[in-house]
Amino acid sequence: MKKSFFYSSFFIKAFLLTVGHRLLAQTIPVNYDEVAIPAYTLPDPLTALNGKKISNINDWQNLRRPEIMQLFAEHVYGKMPAKTVATHFETTSTTPNALNGLATRQEITISFPEVSNAPRIYVLVYLPNGAVGKVPAFLGLNFCGNQCISPDSTIRLSGSYAPDFCRGFVKNQATEASRASQADRWPVEMLIKQGFAVATAHYGDLEPDFSEGWKTGIRGTMAEELGLQPAEWSAIGAWAWGLSRIMDWIVQTPALNAKEVALVGHSRLGKAALWAGATDQRFGMVISNNSGEGGAALAKREFGETVKHINTTFPHWFVEKFKTYNQNTAALPVDQHLLLSLIAPRPLYVASAQDDRWADPKGEFLATQATAPVYELYGKTGLKTSEMPPVDQPTGNGSVRYHIRTGKHDITRYDWEQYVQFVKELWP
Ligand code: GCU
Repeated sequence: MKKSFFYSSFFIKAFLLTVGHRLLAQTIPVNYDEVAIPAYTLPDPLTALNGKKISNINDWQNLRRPEIMQLFAEHVYGKMPAKTVATHFETTSTTPNALNGLATRQEITISFPEVSNAPRIYVLVYLPNGAVGKVPAFLGLNFCGNQCISPDSTIRLSGSYAPDFCRGFVKNQATEASRASQADRWPVEMLIKQGFAVATAHYGDLEPDFSEGWKTGIRGTMAEELGLQPAEWSAIGAWAWGLSRIMDWIVQTPALNAKEVALVGHSRLGKAALWAGATDQRFGMVISNNSGEGGAALAKREFGETVKHINTTFPHWFVEKFKTYNQNTAALPVDQHLLLSLIAPRPLYVASAQDDRWADPKGEFLATQATAPVYELYGKTGLKTSEMPPVDQPTGNGSVRYHIRTGKHDITRYDWEQYVQFVKELWP
């Protein structure tokens, strides 16, 4: 009785907060006109705050990169915990003949034994059967729970909060009807056949995605152990931190090649993937799929979703300070090309969709292109072209690639096929 009361008041509150923020954001005008973009100047990736020109890897790694990290932590995503906390990995299921014998399916629970009320991360993993040696992996969070990525009825049903758009949910809680609801976003069989492992977890395990979700997520329950107050970081920070905990598991898993982990994220989870790739350099590659505002798109263009929109609808995604730029992106000391530059020298793939103007495809392209000088410091090739490529024609022959696909905001089979090809070229 008590428990059900707790759950209903929790979901009513989450519902009201989410709807309220969304309605408020709808009153903010949206610009889709290139001509109306304000004049803006992007900070130079290779000029330090003290004016010093960065011309070698040493200065990038020891001066400019740390100061860019610091700027993003202070103004955008918040700090990351400097303290580590004891982690326990438990394999709760192993299915040797998943996908008609193509893969071994495992479920791993990552828990934090020192913190009694901490959330757990439930990781779903597919390993290709018959692989010789350690295999590369795609790792990414999912929106609606592990059960949503496959019709397999034995996958654990997520017990964590999922957003309203997740299908087969009642009061933001998964039901059996949610199984396979996002299977088209996760072509596991194709990836396994290409020799990759696949690992995923529900982002709601780390922090429920609404403005008070921090209370039951990592930020609220582990503040003391991690040495960070909830307001010092953000929901995106918490999701990124969770990706690093999954990486901890990968590192000690003999079947996997921890040096070849391609971190992939769609939309808000693309934002989280980019921040995770910046804060944890063990991720060998980062793939941003339609990550948009607060992800790969330039904020200062104010095209489609803006800083003000995102902070109004999702006040918990970033630190409070980011809101001070709602009316004044010119004053932002960073823009997202600097976030993308933090991935260098590791391979980076940024993808947009033609109908996804809200995410500002051109802003994503320009940010990607602006990372080239940093890649060049390492002797790597960034995007060479200054023109956006035609739709469905990926561009970039070096360590950085970009495409704009026909269609809407989504992660499709086409997108995954391009990622597979990119990974195979870079990690032959
Ligand atoms: C909203 C939000 C975007 C985000 C997207 C998603 O549209 O405004 O910033 O990327 O949700 O995560 O699907």
